Amino acid sequence: MCGIVGYVGENRATPILINGLLKLEYRGYDSAGLAVVENGNLAVMKNKGRVSNLEELDGINNLTSTIGIAHTRWATHGRPSAENAHPHMDNSKTFAVVHNGIIENYNELKDFLISKGYTFYSQTDTETIPNLIHYYFSRDEKDDGDKFLRAVRSACNDLKGSYAIEVISNLSPNECIVVRKDSPLVVGVGTNENYIASDIPAILPFTKNFYLLDDNELTVIKKDSVFFYDNSLEQHNKAIKNIEWDALSAEKDGYEDYMLKEIFEQPNSIRETIGSRLKLGEECNFDDLEFSKEYLENLNKIYIVACGTAMHAGLVGKNIIEKLCKIPVTVDIASEFRYRDPLVDEKTLCIYITQSGETADTIAALKLAKSKGSKTLAISNVIGSSITREADYSIYTHAGPEIAVASTKAYTSQVVLLAILAIHFAEILEASDKETLENLKTDILDLPTKIGAVLDNLDDLKEFAKKIYTEKDMFFLGRGTDYNVALEGSLKLKEISYIHSEAYAAGELKHGPIALIENGVTVIGIITDSKLVEKTISNMQEVITRGAKTLVITNQNLPNTHFDYVIDIPNTSSLISPILSVIPLQLLAYYISKYKGLDVDKPRNLAKSVTVE
Ligand code: AGP
Repeated sequence: MCGIVGYVGENRATPILINGLLKLEYRGYDSAGLAVVENGNLAVMKNKGRVSNLEELDGINNLTSTIGIAHTRWATHGRPSAENAHPHMDNSKTFAVVHNGIIENYNELKDFLISKGYTFYSQTDTETIPNLIHYYFSRDEKDDGDKFLRAVRSACNDLKGSYAIEVISNLSPNECIVVRKDSPLVVGVGTNENYIASDIPAILPFTKNFYLLDDNELTVIKKDSVFFYDNSLEQHNKAIKNIEWDALSAEKDGYEDYMLKEIFEQPNSIRETIGSRLKLGEECNFDDLEFSKEYLENLNKIYIVACGTAMHAGLVGKNIIEKLCKIPVTVDIASEFRYRDPLVDEKTLCIYITQSGETADTIAALKLAKSKGSKTLAISNVIGSSITREADYSIYTHAGPEIAVASTKAYTSQVVLLAILAIHFAEILEASDKETLENLKTDILDLPTKIGAVLDNLDDLKEFAKKIYTEKDMFFLGRGTDYNVALEGSLKLKEISYIHSEAYAAGELKHGPIALIENGVTVIGIITDSKLVEKTISNMQEVITRGAKTLVITNQNLPNTHFDYVIDIPNTSSLISPILSVIPLQLLAYYISKYKGLDVDKPRNLAKSVTVE
């Protein structure tokens, strides 16, 4: 949930650490802190609130150290406060640690350490780590150059749960030791300086060359070297990965907020998702997949498992795969799937969708299906993310870094990728006629231009947002795949405007929710499927009769109706229409949030990636 940055080099560490933290505030923003080795001692500075509160601390600008670790926190154990902010030190102030993740056995470890005379000053699970390191360090009688590393290794062997940690010590002032397990961590390589981060954008302005760390790999970082060790402290080599994201794409690029930037990036992010996978007149091409016709024919079903917006993308994908491939698809919420003892086996293909690739429930759900003999396929936006190391196959959305907590471009890229995957499977299976597939390919290739057209036509949407931004409740209605978009529109609104909203399959209205419709209530309808137009219109008429204010998003020529606002979007195959119809809903949520004066990119109580249960 939190963000980590580290630096070992020749320059002052503090400005680099603060700069990195500012880029990671989307991962956690209830407190921030840093530690450096200053004149032979550890200097730790931390404060509650945003990184700007840390920057304001007296003396922070006087720190001259060229090595340091830093953290921006999203509280799990212990309320947001300066004491609970990271870094944490051991009692002797010899080791400083920052940590992402959760130490599940921290109570046990704390009791053990207390029994050995240690005192705890915070309510965090993290404080056990520096004290454990100290415990092992002080008992190691071999006083060689690896003593610090051995102590970190021994401490990690005692930890249960997930973690990415950075450790520095005043006894070893030129090196930082880092380890990850089920939580992201990368090392960025420079000249006579190296960087550490939980997320690439934090250090992208400094380097494009990265080591993507593996679970349980101990890494020792000095200014001119990076060494990797396994748990037996055997050293091994590792290849550097060049990450092509440019630093600017991780910045706001002139937009007021990351979310707005990311909404407007969608023509391009979708071009990147399509890449060389889909061309007219050719079969779709996925270099990393090798599903045979025999394997796909033998499948009983496909499961799509994900959380939140990624799960909504899965619902759209289900419709496309079932229509094109004639394989039944079940979509499940990862936190439900993992505890439901799901009926999956070697005749089930399980697809996991996750922008971050770090969502704890989704990763656990993948591990479960794997243990039951299913093949697993991860769809992620983050190269080398945790889920892609667990999955049998991984394919990437290539949507570029998504910084705003509310997911927008990741969703549309996930749907595009699922559509291309469905065409690929249908081609292998020969389950759909070539013309249908070719038409769909044309529609997919036209999406960037059509999204551009949606983004050029925002005046009515802004006006409508201004009219309704003070409301307390709203409803979203749709049928078929329009219902899937209604769910996503409603989630977006809740997340960033804090307005309560519900999405219903329009046909369900009469079965209960219509009791809530009264004079002045806002109802948003999505109508893109020509076969269902009349049905949804008649549901919308029912709410108009009861005094509702209405906005309709449609690609159909609607007959004369009494809707207050109609947002026209370009026509496309109903299978992929959510990619266009979701955009006005993303923007509606955005404008409402802005009119309310809220922090669009960092909504309250939410974090970008949910790496704990
Ligand atoms: C999206 O707007 C949300 N913030 C959230 O629902 C998100 O989609 C969900 O937590 C899944 O994240 P993931 O794609 O990184 O797994």
